[in-house]
Amino acid sequence: MTVTVFVPGDSAALAVGADKVAAAIEREAKTRSLDVHVVRNGSRGLLWLEPLVEVRVDHHRIAYGPVRAADVPGLFDANFLEGGVHPLFQGQTRDIPFLARQTRLTFSRCGVTDPLSLEDYRRYQGLKGLEKAIAMAPADIVKQVTDSGLRGRGGAGFPTGIKWKTVLDAPGDRKYIVCNADEGDSGTFSDRMVMEGDPFVLIEGMAIAGLATGATKGYVYTRSEYPHAIRMMTAAIEIAREAGILGPSVMGSGHTFDMEVRMGAGAYVCGEETSLLNSLEGKRGIVRAKPPLPALQGLFGCPTVVNNVISLASVPVIMDRGAAFYRDYGVGRSHGTIPIQLAGNVKHGGLYETAFGLTLGELVYDIGGGTANGRPVKAVQVGGPLGAYFPPSLFDTIFDYEAFAAKDGLIGHAGIVVFDDTADMMKQARFAMEFCAVESCGKCTPCRIGSTRGVETVDRIARGIEPEKNRALLADLCNTMKFGSLCALGGFTPYPVMSAMTHFPEDFAPTPLVEAAE
Ligand SMILES: Cc1cc2nc3c(=O)[nH]c(=O)nc-3n(C[C@H](O)[C@H](O)[C@H](O)COP(=O)(O)O)c2cc1C
Ligand code: SF4
Repeated sequence: MTVTVFVPGDSAALAVGADKVAAAIEREAKTRSLDVHVVRNGSRGLLWLEPLVEVRVDHHRIAYGPVRAADVPGLFDANFLEGGVHPLFQGQTRDIPFLARQTRLTFSRCGVTDPLSLEDYRRYQGLKGLEKAIAMAPADIVKQVTDSGLRGRGGAGFPTGIKWKTVLDAPGDRKYIVCNADEGDSGTFSDRMVMEGDPFVLIEGMAIAGLATGATKGYVYTRSEYPHAIRMMTAAIEIAREAGILGPSVMGSGHTFDMEVRMGAGAYVCGEETSLLNSLEGKRGIVRAKPPLPALQGLFGCPTVVNNVISLASVPVIMDRGAAFYRDYGVGRSHGTIPIQLAGNVKHGGLYETAFGLTLGELVYDIGGGTANGRPVKAVQVGGPLGAYFPPSLFDTIFDYEAFAAKDGLIGHAGIVVFDDTADMMKQARFAMEFCAVESCGKCTPCRIGSTRGVETVDRIARGIEPEKNRALLADLCNTMKFGSLCALGGFTPYPVMSAMTHFPEDFAPTPLVEAAE
């Protein structure tokens, strides 16, 4: 009997030797004349266990990890093909606490299926949302998405259904769906995991968006640093096209929708939607003034939906299970689930999909297990490089859009980067300003000039030059950037800077290291 063994083909697993592990398993099976079929699945998102090898035994999955190629003969000796005990044995995959406690709606298939198998996709509820959407009027699809309470997962948290309605109602012969897969935020990888681990869910979400708004063409805009995601997405699109899911008549509906992947050069500002559209049009990635909104005049001047990967990938389950099903998860005005990405100095880093409503402390300590090196947690940065630093005294903050905004923070793309007590928050503040200076598109003065002045001001504080005056100057500069910048790159850089100054004032003192380095 053939035994199925799963070895993730996700970048995170590849980075720690998954290809070598897969080859070693195939080699060892051949040497021992055992019938083994290796499937390259996506990642389950338990990154500290990668490569996480799973074996199908009696309709269950038994997990071993982290597996190195050198462990493979020992795994065979321990009879892992029948779930044998070995030091890397993790028990049934679904019972691993990090996974067992999640609510996986958007990521239900990721790590479970062969990402390029349409058969697997259908077997695990795939295409049900699109089938239901095909039977509905566009306005009803939009209503269902609106009623679900889904808000954009790219950063701003704007209601997805309202954006779709604007595009549906906009006059225009051509309309577009643009998937923002630029994923520039530090500590985030959920978009990549979808594209590598369950690309059909994004295709299905985009096709539904096309039917709902009248758009006939979609683009997935991602970065050159994501070669595996680009390969998987491109292959999945071809498979979907051949199967009639994309093309002149989506699943025989008579509606046209096709899509392709476009690669950017990897500038943070190209994740900003108008800059992205410029880049997609072959122009320099510079921010456009709004209005006009992209929903009315977006790609090539046509009405355009710009949505993040996770927003679009969450739509199929909403169409399949209904608006109320999705809406019932979460708290306050933050409905549904969110794939939280734990990164930085954290013991159990990875992707944790859960309903909104856990506290930051639960996420960092109970789920993440604290720091990887065992040192005390000093701060977490939530929401990417423009997100605020939260000290442990704010760890009772509930993970939802409004609770974070109330504490001068943002959820962003739901990345949490953990820092231990050796982190120097003044250096982090300097880094925020420097990052803004490097990534600024240059269109507006507060960001273009302010960020460089910001770096200089932090340096003066570090050198002990009129520290009080320069701290006040830095705060003033942040205020100017916050209210005077054209987009959120300049507008939100003050968040990490001000939160570092507010919560860690003791770090804003002259640094011997800076002086020594000069
Ligand atoms: C500097 C900057 C970078 C951004 N980067 C991303 C990104 O990498 N991915 C993303 O989805 N949204 C990013 N955004 C947000 C987008 O402008 C936009 O709000 C989002 O794509 C809309 O999709 P959503 O409504 O589904 O979240 C960025 C915004 C700014 C200001
Ligand atoms: S804030 Fe910065 S990135 Fe945004 S438009 Fe102004 S210069 Fe460009």
